[in-house]
Amino acid sequence: AGTLGAAAAQSGRYFGTAIAAGRLGDSTYTTIAGREFNMVTAENEMKPDATEPQRGQFNFSSGDQIYNWATQRGMKVRGHTLAWHSQQPGWMQSLSGSSLRQAMIDHINGVMAHYKGKLAYWDVVNEAFNEDGSRRQSNLQATGNDWIEVAFRTARSADPSVKLCYNDYNIENWSYGKTQGVYNMIRDFKSRGVPIDCVGLQTHFTGGSSLPSNFQTTLSSFAALGVDVALTEVDVTNASTTQYAGLTQACVNVPRCVGITVWGVRDSDSWRSSESPLLFDNSGNKKAAYTSVLNAL
Ligand code: XIL
Repeated sequence: AGTLGAAAAQSGRYFGTAIAAGRLGDSTYTTIAGREFNMVTAENEMKPDATEPQRGQFNFSSGDQIYNWATQRGMKVRGHTLAWHSQQPGWMQSLSGSSLRQAMIDHINGVMAHYKGKLAYWDVVNEAFNEDGSRRQSNLQATGNDWIEVAFRTARSADPSVKLCYNDYNIENWSYGKTQGVYNMIRDFKSRGVPIDCVGLQTHFTGGSSLPSNFQTTLSSFAALGVDVALTEVDVTNASTTQYAGLTQACVNVPRCVGITVWGVRDSDSWRSSESPLLFDNSGNKKAAYTSVLNAL
């Protein structure tokens, strides 16, 4: 296959990218994105600060721009994200306790109602763990340890058609505290019937050329709990070809690894642009890492 999306589709997977609404007028950007990818994540436009800037007043204008751009081209869309300590609107940052808990529930219901039946996945909760595997202290965590399961139960009722994911970074290395913390939560949720369908591994890799230890074991171990796994925000310092090939191969080797999303199109589009971490250079040319990914799919 001649594109990332088509190559991934040969094994029933998708290959996605993060899209920024503000770049949709750039034809180099949209030409590459429209050609190569078949899944789209809004880079910022479906986050809480974007979708509910004032309490109870929802704004889906830029999220819908991305949704419409993607679906008009036959791409699927991954929702990102409903409950997160970061990129909360100011009004939410200043809440606590039961009023914050209710605001989280109302936010999930409001956003999911708008996109009901339209999305493939939702990152319901993002980045809720510390590096040592304990829960991250945040205003959401302070509302009670059950905030994550409440978010997932709320999400399932709001839209039973979309797969519900937990998403985090630094959960790629199997022998890492944070990976084990997330794993234990997913195992607990599955054993108690808390609705969860997938785990997203952000896969923001830094430094070196080898993969985090036992990366494939991490994917297969999560999958063995009965959830799909996906690499959701891939970028790699200097776009190491061995790391890109290895992460792609690890996904391909795990039947429940459903797809890979890179966190942007060209290096210049990246939130880590100084590290040139993506598959296309600033001019939109394919980099060596592009070929290593394509060959591994
Ligand atoms: C980043 C975006 O790429 C930036 O444009 C924004 O300024 C900050 O957020 N983990 C996530 C993503 O889940 O939402 C983050 O995206 C990168 C880290």
